[in-house]
Amino acid sequence: MRYGYFDDEAREYIITRPDTPLPWINYLGNQGFFSLISNTCGGYAFYRDAKLRRITRFRYNNVPHDEGGRCFYICDGDVTWSPAFLPAKTPLDSYRCRHGLGYSVFEGEKQGVSAQLTCLVPMGSPCELQKLTLRNNNKEVKRLTVYGAVEWCLWNAVDDSTNYQRNWNIGEVEIEGSTVYHKTEYRERRDHYAFYSVNAPIAGFDTDRDTFLGRFRGWSEPVAVENRTSYNSKASGWAPMAALRLEVALAPGEEKSFLFRLGYVENPEAEKFSAPGVINKTRAHALLSAYDSVAQFDAALSELKAYWAGLLSRFTVKSSEEKLDRMVNVWNQYQCMVTFNMSRSASYYESGTGRGMGFRDSCQDLLGFVHLIPERARERILDIASIQFADGSTYHQYQPLTKRGNADVGSGFNDDPLWLIACTCAYIRETGDFSILDEPTPFNNEAGTEVPLLEHLRRSAGYTISHRGPHGLPLIGRADWNDCLNLNCFSREPGESFQTCSNFESGKAESVFIAGMFVKYGQEYADLCERIGLKEEAAAVRLAVSDMEKAVLAHGWDGEWFRRAYDAFERPIGSRQNEEGQIFIEPQGFCVMAGIGGPDYGRKALRSAEERLGNEFGIELLAPCYTEYHDYLGEISSYPPGYKENGSVFCHNNPWITLAWCKVRDGNAAFDLYRRNAPAYIEDKSEIHRTEPYCYSQTIAGRAARTYGEAKNSWLTGTAAWSFAAVSQGILGVRPDYDGLTVDPCLPDFMDGCRISRLFRGTRYEITVRRGDDKGLTADGKKLDGCTIPLTDAPVCSVLVTI
Ligand code: BGC
Ligand code: NOJ
Repeated sequence: MRYGYFDDEAREYIITRPDTPLPWINYLGNQGFFSLISNTCGGYAFYRDAKLRRITRFRYNNVPHDEGGRCFYICDGDVTWSPAFLPAKTPLDSYRCRHGLGYSVFEGEKQGVSAQLTCLVPMGSPCELQKLTLRNNNKEVKRLTVYGAVEWCLWNAVDDSTNYQRNWNIGEVEIEGSTVYHKTEYRERRDHYAFYSVNAPIAGFDTDRDTFLGRFRGWSEPVAVENRTSYNSKASGWAPMAALRLEVALAPGEEKSFLFRLGYVENPEAEKFSAPGVINKTRAHALLSAYDSVAQFDAALSELKAYWAGLLSRFTVKSSEEKLDRMVNVWNQYQCMVTFNMSRSASYYESGTGRGMGFRDSCQDLLGFVHLIPERARERILDIASIQFADGSTYHQYQPLTKRGNADVGSGFNDDPLWLIACTCAYIRETGDFSILDEPTPFNNEAGTEVPLLEHLRRSAGYTISHRGPHGLPLIGRADWNDCLNLNCFSREPGESFQTCSNFESGKAESVFIAGMFVKYGQEYADLCERIGLKEEAAAVRLAVSDMEKAVLAHGWDGEWFRRAYDAFERPIGSRQNEEGQIFIEPQGFCVMAGIGGPDYGRKALRSAEERLGNEFGIELLAPCYTEYHDYLGEISSYPPGYKENGSVFCHNNPWITLAWCKVRDGNAAFDLYRRNAPAYIEDKSEIHRTEPYCYSQTIAGRAARTYGEAKNSWLTGTAAWSFAAVSQGILGVRPDYDGLTVDPCLPDFMDGCRISRLFRGTRYEITVRRGDDKGLTADGKKLDGCTIPLTDAPVCSVLVTI
């Protein structure tokens, strides 16, 4: 069943009832100021870093879930309601939530009063705007008491939820007109404060949460709201908040709009105070006057829409498959931008406190956004490379605020270095900007250690070459892409993190997956070397690649599929010799994409994957699932069967199989897998799938799980980038290349063709794909050999591909 529908024209998903199976969220913000916003208006805001600059409070483990966030109350006689249903929970006469690109709209109606609440973060401004429009559809005058409220987080989200002996003493606010300023810790080392304001005179306020709510009450029934009053409380310690009260009279048919503004301000040290103890509000005033009127708000919304329209016009498809089109044209690319901004930090599953920007995550995410924001992709690559160590290994994560490697998570994930080659090559193929290879880039962020970025790539490849085990395959280290395959960890300590616990380096545990990666990205690195004139290096790398290929064929092939690894005792994993975990998805994807063993091995491996791992929602990660914990396997065997890495459909790696099917030219199999977990295609199963039908989730519980088909961890997953790569570069076959744009579709038989528009290196390629006997490609009427269209200066190039 469905809980809403896609409005393709408006690029919105429209949710028609508040009781979605889980909160269905959206993201606001493009740079700096970000918010998460659910279909009942829950969520939180932060500035740049979800852990260190948390602006509003959110309780992940709360019951009821997702209460709080932006709290709007409309009091009409005895009835109190919220335009987004929560927090008041009063049943509405009508409800809609429209999640758009960078904005969300809530439309509620009760007793002939309609409310439309639109929330957005304007381009380039550190604030969230909330426009509340109220309309009286009755024949009598309505006198309404209206509240808008937020609860402040005391900045560091971890301290905020742990260090109460301090927290309950430090909260401080200032009130000025219709604005509440949150200035906790500003008196000492912070140079930032936040504010909540409305563009109309208020009738009262509260800034002390417990005064506003009253004893024994939650957000659904604040005592101030029940009494239609404010206590004008001034928070001093405890839990500071901002509740603004408006008294609104609406004549029959009358409509009034109010603009609420949640803002963040940083002041230079010398300008912190305007008088002793009084915060300098100059920047806040400027922000408030930039967004003081409905006209200014509307302009901000138009600007946002134009920004997204511009971005998304870079790649569009028109086909007979409306679901395919809406994934490609809107939602998949949108999610790629969200993963660019958030990495794996803040979602309704990622608390924003534990994980910064992942090295491998960000490198892979780049594959999905490099065509949208190439300049920012460039900066991202250099930031990532700067946390690499001189020996080619890397920190696993960095913090967005400092861009420093995160020592808490450490290093030793031996796939990490190779992802740097993957993303740098993808960037250069997209942009033609070889100059990035010359960019001086430090190791471990240490000044004085800078070398050209190319040297980082060299050390990445070198690290894999020089860290191999008994079978000549790459050592796995702490883990490879599968964070839970911890073959050197042997943890027996309850609760110990598998990601950071001490690692006994056996010098033996090897990864066939990294071998596949090396064959693929080693070749890409060799091609790059060749292009920039490093012929000898190219030849040496090719030799290493071919050695690796041989090692995989000798020790990584199990007869019907590729093995997964060798454990610390040199025993195979992912082999028919094993009782459980006989076959894993990852090496089937990567070894086939890398072309190891050619199409025959490829088809065999992919067929085995389908037969043994395939279900209605995709390909499961492994089978049979581990039923017991094994210390020589680590976290993977800690999950109950069918969940997460232990045999769910781990959506991130399904597109590898889609791409692998394209590699062996089976368009039917590729598309069949693509549609099994593309959100728009499974919208009808929302009561089973449960997460948002407009974005990918990390996992879908496998057949071995009690909740087979249920997804978790929506939004922040490498699935977004890889699915976009699979559909755009594999199925639709549009691949940026050094010398031009390759167009090589691999469509399922039932599709007759499609039209694609792709902006590439300043030229817009208008591509028509059709079926016919005269196979081949013509560009601007000229028949070409092969399927790569050479670069051109022309603004438009029209391409006809006959398949
Ligand atoms: C999860 C992995 C994740 C890892 C990162 C594990 O608990 O299962 O999916 O990559 O944590 O910290
Ligand atoms: C999620 C992590 O973010 C990613 O880095 C990892 O590759 C997968 N889980 C698989 O474990």
